[in-house]
Amino acid sequence: MSEDKEYDLLKHAGYSERAIDYYIKKVNVGIIEDADATGEYTGICGDNMKIYLKINDGVILDAKFQGIGCAASFASGSALTEMIKKMKLDEAKELNMDNIKAYIAGLPEIKNHCPGIPINALRVAIDSYGRD
Ligand code: FES
Repeated sequence: MSEDKEYDLLKHAGYSERAIDYYIKKVNVGIIEDADATGEYTGICGDNMKIYLKINDGVILDAKFQGIGCAASFASGSALTEMIKKMKLDEAKELNMDNIKAYIAGLPEIKNHCPGIPINALRVAIDSYGRD
């Protein structure tokens, strides 16, 4: 499918331009090989995401993710990994699905639960930090 056609379909479905842009450009999709923390979460829908964090002195310096999931979970993963860069761990842990939805400014109603995948993956990563 061409990028234009994909854009039109997602726009028609109710995705914001920011959400579509994140999804099509795969913003922050990837692996951090020497990550300081990782967290993985599988939602009840079966979609899965793993988040990689680079951390220094309690601050998130970089974040990437990989996953198997819908466009909304990927757009949410991109949004969250953008939001948490330069954020303290305790602040990042307080983020919730509404923060992602507000940042994206447009997901289809039926996709309201999807930001929970990256939020939970992030919380697992933060909880695991420093345990090894
Ligand atoms: Fe599973 Fe979107 S349908 S995260």
